[in-house]
Amino acid sequence: MAISLSPAKLVLLAVHFAVQADIDSLAVLSARHDTVLRKDLVLRILLTYLPETLQSNKYVGFLESLQRGTLSENIHHDVDASLVENLTEEDATKRVRKLRLLPLTLKETPKEVGDDSITSFLVRRSYKVDEEAGLLAELPTLLLPFMDHSPYVRTLLISTILPLLRRNCEYHPENPVQYTLSAFQQLPDRVAANLLLSQTGAREEDLPVVGRDLRGLIGPWLVDEKKWKIRRHSIAPPNGEEDDGICAGYDEVLRWLTTQASKNWKVAVSAIQQWGGPGDADLAGWGKLELTEQQQDHVRRAYAKAALASAYVLPEASPEAIEGAYSIVAQVANSCDLEPLPPFSSTVTLLPPLAEQISEDIICTKSATFMRNDLLSSSNILTTPNNSTVAFLEALILSAHLLTKAGHPCTIRRAGELALLQDERDQKEQATKLIHHMSHNGPKTEDKFWIRARNEVLWLRDWGAEEVSADATAKGVFSKLKKELLEVEILKALLSNTRYALARSLYEDAPDRPLDQKVLQDAVYATAMTAYDNASNPNRTRGGLKKCDEIIKSFPETFPKSHPLAKKVEALLQATHALSEYRLVLKQGEPFTPIVLRVHSDPVSIIGKILEQNPKSYTRLQDFLDLGSRMVQAGLVKPSSSPSPTALSHPPEQVSHRITAMCIDVALTEEDFETAYSYVVTRLESSSSFGQQQPDDYSWRVALQAGKYRRTSRTVRPTHYGTSSANPEIRHLEQRIECLSVALRIAPPATLQEILNVYRRAEEELDAAVKAEEEREEEWDWKGDSIVNSGNMPGGFTNSTTTGSTLSKPRTIPTGGRRADKEEEAPMSLFDLARATGLTGPKNLSALSGLQRAAGGAFGLDGMGTGAGTGTRTSTDSARSAEAMSPTMSSHDGDGGGQQRARKRDQLKNAAMGTLVSGVGWLVGAPGPAAGSGGGGGNGRE
Ligand SMILES: *[C@@H]1O[C@H](CO)[C@@H](O)[C@H](O)[C@H]1NC(C)=O
Ligand SMILES: *[C@@H]1O[C@H](CO)[C@@H](O)[C@H](O)[C@H]1NC(C)=O
Ligand SMILES: *[C@@H]1O[C@H](CO)[C@@H](O)[C@H](O)[C@H]1NC(C)=O
Ligand SMILES: *[C@@H]1O[C@H](CO)[C@@H](O)[C@H](O)[C@H]1NC(C)=O
Ligand SMILES: *[C@@H]1O[C@H](CO)[C@@H](O)[C@H](O)[C@H]1NC(C)=O
Repeated sequence: MAISLSPAKLVLLAVHFAVQADIDSLAVLSARHDTVLRKDLVLRILLTYLPETLQSNKYVGFLESLQRGTLSENIHHDVDASLVENLTEEDATKRVRKLRLLPLTLKETPKEVGDDSITSFLVRRSYKVDEEAGLLAELPTLLLPFMDHSPYVRTLLISTILPLLRRNCEYHPENPVQYTLSAFQQLPDRVAANLLLSQTGAREEDLPVVGRDLRGLIGPWLVDEKKWKIRRHSIAPPNGEEDDGICAGYDEVLRWLTTQASKNWKVAVSAIQQWGGPGDADLAGWGKLELTEQQQDHVRRAYAKAALASAYVLPEASPEAIEGAYSIVAQVANSCDLEPLPPFSSTVTLLPPLAEQISEDIICTKSATFMRNDLLSSSNILTTPNNSTVAFLEALILSAHLLTKAGHPCTIRRAGELALLQDERDQKEQATKLIHHMSHNGPKTEDKFWIRARNEVLWLRDWGAEEVSADATAKGVFSKLKKELLEVEILKALLSNTRYALARSLYEDAPDRPLDQKVLQDAVYATAMTAYDNASNPNRTRGGLKKCDEIIKSFPETFPKSHPLAKKVEALLQATHALSEYRLVLKQGEPFTPIVLRVHSDPVSIIGKILEQNPKSYTRLQDFLDLGSRMVQAGLVKPSSSPSPTALSHPPEQVSHRITAMCIDVALTEEDFETAYSYVVTRLESSSSFGQQQPDDYSWRVALQAGKYRRTSRTVRPTHYGTSSANPEIRHLEQRIECLSVALRIAPPATLQEILNVYRRAEEELDAAVKAEEEREEEWDWKGDSIVNSGNMPGGFTNSTTTGSTLSKPRTIPTGGRRADKEEEAPMSLFDLARATGLTGPKNLSALSGLQRAAGGAFGLDGMGTGAGTGTRTSTDSARSAEAMSPTMSSHDGDGGGQQRARKRDQLKNAAMGTLVSGVGWLVGAPGPAAGSGGGGGNGRE
């Protein structure tokens, strides 16, 4: 039923139906009165009055009909016009004027919308639904039917509404983008892309759906044709400005990707693994992205570039991050149809030869800046995907992996710096640290580990190149280091981990020896010494010394037993081991460690410490002499370290003299005069090779020291007496004088006066003692026989072992003994003697004679130096003093009889003659008739 209403009333009625959301009535009304309610008017009414909360499906059909002009005048539908029936026209017109219907187009409406009213309506309606009702989800239903009608609507729906809807309602509803649809649409690409992706991979559990986000958010977003442009320049702009790329929005996404790689690498790795680039888009079946060939190519290369860049900026040096980087590169190789990468685990095992594939022009200092700057720039050669750059990155990743795995976390960029900057010092430091770390943390017993470790270190140097020819640039993170250097470090690591057999098989037995003989020898020796120096125990069967020994012996061809260095080490070990038998503390409370011996500026002085710290150890003189000669053989005794300049000529002898002197000195300190005496007369004399070189400084001093020694109650008693003087006092003086005569023989001329002074005092004492003894003997003779017979001996002299006297015991007297015989053979005067011996070494003789003149002839050598006198001795004093100079001091007459006493005096005289000769003979270098013969001087010798 047609009602006749004025246009104003029709409009009012239509508005009413719109407000009421009575779409059916509105449709009928519009159909019946289409001359008044034209399409644009109806759309304006809907835009202004249809509630935004109304579900789209309630009116989208009406819109379609309206758009197509196919509204049907449903005759069965009653239109209730009562609302406007009784209005006056005037009133109705007035009301219509107040309706203020919204226009379909605004001046800010994009020009792509054109003047199509339905498109304009849909756009404005969409904004309003979003803004007034927040019902973004209703928009697809509203817009979908018009996609084919309007490209603008299609773009709006797919590229803006779809990503926003997914972002806010489906993927990350807990953190929606706080922009209205229209505001979002106007955001710059950079902001929009980052907003869309702001929650992507934000939580660990989101990592598996990073690809979904890119596919579902970025994929649609990039469909907007406005974001794509045809590259205006076929070549890069001449002013060096960066080409913006073909799609600003896409570039933003790639920038986001590399930023993630540098901050949150797992997101980047997930993204590259899960997303195939712009073509890999989820458009909800509403359309598809159409790109030209050129664009597709650009898109793929740009993505690959960003992926490679991501690998370079990966900041973490963890195994997972490095493996992630590898997966990125593998992906790039795959997507760009480059040489495919094997699985990570097999690459790591194989250590592939990569050097060949890497072009020379990549390896340069300039490339290093490309690792830091303009990674996405088209001029960056490192991120230009081709077989060469991919192989280079693969090599860096594998290098970083090997270093990280070996305990030296290394990022890919760091590996890149090592390889590109080629700073030898830096590379060396890294290599040394690496091998050192392996050495300290590797499994000590697994040869397999060590073989592998060596292969890895060598691979790091050349990335699996065949022998690098001299002119080619070496490629690798240790490219500047000589192979030899690395081999030496590895060898040292093997040895310090007791992999002796392996070391030998690699470096000594292998047909192509990696090290030349000299280098091998030096390395092995140095390692042995390091083991030695780290030892805490001087026992050679333990710890560092054992290791040192084993190391040398594990290279029998390099160090045969006869090799000087092998001998040297053996001597060192023996010397050190010898020290283990003693208590030895060098510094306050610190026990001795072997290295102290090796670096000691005066190792012989350590023997002095042992003597001090180990009572009675001085009796082991021979052991110490052996030790000293080991020290010399081990090269520990350096000429410069010797305190005496005279030592320069002959260190070994110097050492043995010094050790003997030390033992004598300590023996005296420990009041063991007998031992000291015995060393003086046997060791100093036998060891002093007079006449050949300057005597050393230790021997005469200590002989003098022994000569000065005075018996006390603490003095160690001799164990037996031999055949010497029975009177302990006389015997002691005789021994002292013997020591002094040794001193005289070996001392330098300048010191003779001092020794002579001591000598003379001792002689006077001996004189007095002998006199006292004679008196006692006479007294003894006087009451002699009866007491002897009764066995009642006064003065405790009956028991020699308690008194130290053998007076009571009759003894065999060497009547007409050797010394008396010698008298006949002896030259008549010292002067003659000097002449007879051809003046070979008369130094001390002339010195002595000079001294005698100065001393007023007290020594009985008057006139000697002038050569004028006959030199015949007359004084008994001088006879005795000469006699005393001999170690073969005559025996005493222990017999109580006067006859014996008389004989004894003669004998003394005779002996004096003989010993003077022998004594002076020594001075001038003639063979001493008494040297070493079995006189009384042997007391205390064993
Ligand atoms: C309009 O006026 C007619 C006649 O005057 C009357 O019958 C009708 O009830 C009125 N309608 C309304 C809704 O007031
Ligand atoms: C990369 O190497 C592969 C395999 O060696 C080869 O097939 C491919 O052509 C190379 N690609 C380029 C761009 O050189
Ligand atoms: C790969 O690209 C780099 C940089 O453009 C270039 O220097 C190199 O020669 C290329 N290598 C190959 C094998 O294409
Ligand atoms: C050295 O060590 C071995 C074995 O540990 C031990 O038998 C020996 O007694 C030690 N020698 C010395 C002098 O301590
Ligand atoms: C000498 O002294 C020792 C020890 O005091 C004693 O055993 C020995 O019998 C003594 N000899 C004589 C002959 O008295």
